[in-house]
Amino acid sequence: MKTEVYNAISQKENGTNICGRIIRGGGLVAFPTETVYGLGANGLDGAAVERIFEAKGRPSDNPLILHVAKKSDVKDLWRHVPDEARRLMDAFWPGPLTLIFVKSDIVPDEVTAGLSTVAVRMPEHKTALALIRAAGVPIAAPSANLSGRPSPTTAEHVLEDMDGRIDAVIDGGPCRVGVESTVLTLVGRPTILRPGGITREMLEQVIGTVDVSPAVLRPLAEGETAASPGMKHRHYAPDAEVVVAVGSPRKIASIICREYDITEAMGKRAVILGTEQTASCYHGMECDIIGDRSDPASLCSELFAALRRWSGRADVIFAEGVPESDQGLAYMNRLLRAAGFKVLNE
Ligand code: TXA
Ligand code: MG
Repeated sequence: MKTEVYNAISQKENGTNICGRIIRGGGLVAFPTETVYGLGANGLDGAAVERIFEAKGRPSDNPLILHVAKKSDVKDLWRHVPDEARRLMDAFWPGPLTLIFVKSDIVPDEVTAGLSTVAVRMPEHKTALALIRAAGVPIAAPSANLSGRPSPTTAEHVLEDMDGRIDAVIDGGPCRVGVESTVLTLVGRPTILRPGGITREMLEQVIGTVDVSPAVLRPLAEGETAASPGMKHRHYAPDAEVVVAVGSPRKIASIICREYDITEAMGKRAVILGTEQTASCYHGMECDIIGDRSDPASLCSELFAALRRWSGRADVIFAEGVPESDQGLAYMNRLLRAAGFKVLNE
């Protein structure tokens, strides 16, 4: 299969309309959102949705998110719309927040992996919204990477993994947020299953107390069931070992400097994903400054791109832990998974 590339900015051939037709006809199109690139199919067509799982090599027990272009579309996808959902949609949609509630009969089992609930989000990216409107159906879309790899934040990343496996990619440039949406279930107590750009603190201002699933920051124990099936699978792994150092910025820098030297002495190539605050500690070492520790959103927006940049080029990637508040929770969730929970502290 040849994968066509359309440019979202120079709309010459009106790529969004062409891609909308591809989706309606059962094909697969990768498209930009404000979080990461999605791999879209007609969310009401079970056979089309199955193709997503094949193209990604995704385990079939991991459910997908339906993307809509207007808030009122959730009425058709959920049994009913709870009051908390209405308030959250008014506050954060369009935007990087996915809400889970009991599904209606029109949602195919292929989308929900057989669960009785379905995840829905309204992205804020103009191209994503235009594509959903052109398709005229909700778009089922996971991140557009091969299963297990870091999520793509540029069209080039999508092509690295998906060229020849999907019908088309719409290139809309780099994604702003850089990590996937916050996933919040409204079945039972509101609980964050996956942290993202809309933080716990922001959600609590609208609906009061929000729980965080324990699996967000630690591996599942043997025999423990995942509230969100996505949390039990290996994730975000580049082709390199990833190690996270935690503690105060000074401690972190001293741990990383020591381990960097040990790694190099063993003849392995190391790289540090540093921050503006610690950059000067890594003098003479291979260091990629990915953002500002006091602005964890800046770290989120660069993390996946940095993991891909060094994948296969470094043997060991050292990264800095940050406090788990605000967007720091999403950053630590992705980083710890990429590292297989390998953490150094003293
Ligand atoms: O930002 C995003 O959310 C991106 C863009 C493309 O919109 N999409 C994305 O999809 O990250 P995906 O499939 O990579 O992640 C969906 C997550 C998985 O962890 C999945 O297990 C969880 O949401 N999920 C989906 N439906 C669920 C449900 N009914 N119950 C519990 N978890 C669910
Ligand atoms: Mg994903």
